[in-house]
Amino acid sequence: MSGGLQLKNVSKSFGALTVLNDINITVETGEFLVLLGESGCGKSTLLRLISGLEEDHEGAIEIGGRDVTHLDPKNRDLAMVFQSYALYPHMSVFDNIAFGMRIRKSARADIKTEVERVAQVLKLEDYLQRKPAQLSGGQRQRVAIGRAMVRNPQLFLFDEPLSNLDAKLRTEMRTELKRIHKTLNATIAYVTHDQVEAMTLADKIVLLNKGRIEQLGTPEELYLHPDTLFAAQFIGSPEINALDVTIATNAEGFVAHFGDMELPLPASVARGKVQDGQRATLAIRPENLSLAAEGATGTVTGPHSLEFCEPIGSETSMVIDIAGTHVRMREPGLLKLATGSNHNVIWDLAAAHLFDPDSGRHL
Ligand SMILES: Nc1ncnc2c1ncn2[C@@H]1O[C@H](COP(=O)(O)OP(=O)(O)OP(=O)(O)O)[C@@H](O)[C@H]1O
Ligand SMILES: [Mg+2]
Repeated sequence: MSGGLQLKNVSKSFGALTVLNDINITVETGEFLVLLGESGCGKSTLLRLISGLEEDHEGAIEIGGRDVTHLDPKNRDLAMVFQSYALYPHMSVFDNIAFGMRIRKSARADIKTEVERVAQVLKLEDYLQRKPAQLSGGQRQRVAIGRAMVRNPQLFLFDEPLSNLDAKLRTEMRTELKRIHKTLNATIAYVTHDQVEAMTLADKIVLLNKGRIEQLGTPEELYLHPDTLFAAQFIGSPEINALDVTIATNAEGFVAHFGDMELPLPASVARGKVQDGQRATLAIRPENLSLAAEGATGTVTGPHSLEFCEPIGSETSMVIDIAGTHVRMREPGLLKLATGSNHNVIWDLAAAHLFDPDSGRHL
């Protein structure tokens, strides 16, 4: 049975530089936690603190209910897979996976049983006698994971394990990692700066921003209910639109003035702290704007000029000029529209968010 992970008030400084600030995270047994954030925000440092490779921090770390704060890495009962995993090139896949057990002088029969178990989970049974050079990138990555798995650790730590792979392999390995996670029911803490990886793999995402937790929640919570403009902009591609608006009221309730347009705000959006006359950032995802057909109803504006149209295959990505702002839109299907052509746009404002333009917090 694998165990959970708990970080309590963890802070870390390198000299005068504070790189992690009061981090509190609880990961349940069997959960897949993704640490997400831009380069330099402290993801690897946090993983290294959990592993014990990095020391001298404030706060406490528990693995499987056991306080490991002052334990050596080897006594924490975890396994780590790095971005640059080095396999031993002269050893077979079997020997690479068995390496750790041999070092610990495990019995021959135990090694064989364990390597075969791991190879079966990772679908490496047919490759055990090959050398790393005779494997594909994804197969090599699985061997590296296999080396971590043989000890049946309480906790797996992954630091950007897929970043060396090409796009197709990354997608394959994502599916593979999900399957492995299900099979093992393992607790995993996984670092990435790739929001697609985070959205597809995580039970829970911790979005880090400059060493602090920006938001912690399920992928759906982060996507649909971002606490801050930073979180809203970090997740989702193409990026969410952030429009400078002024709030006003009319007979029906709150509206947002954007250019010379008046956008009615549903009560669910203009809730809480919104005030008449206030400046705000109205954030709306590209998929919540669509091209309006003749006679369309709802909140329709236009005509607006098309700046850019990129058919991707299953969808078309567009940029349209609304009140002098470049607004991103997505439409299902493959559209070929001329640059400079004029279109009306329907706004699904129930899916919009209002943020404080100064603090970036949700209003
Ligand atoms: N040993 C160290 N001494 C001083 N500063 C360090 C040390 N290790 C990391 N840092 C700094 O701490 C910050 C966080 O680094 P970290 O490696 O955790 O970032 P990261 O989120 O993993 O970034 P990336 O996505 O680029 O891997 C950075 O500003 C980095 O320069
Ligand atoms: Mg890193």
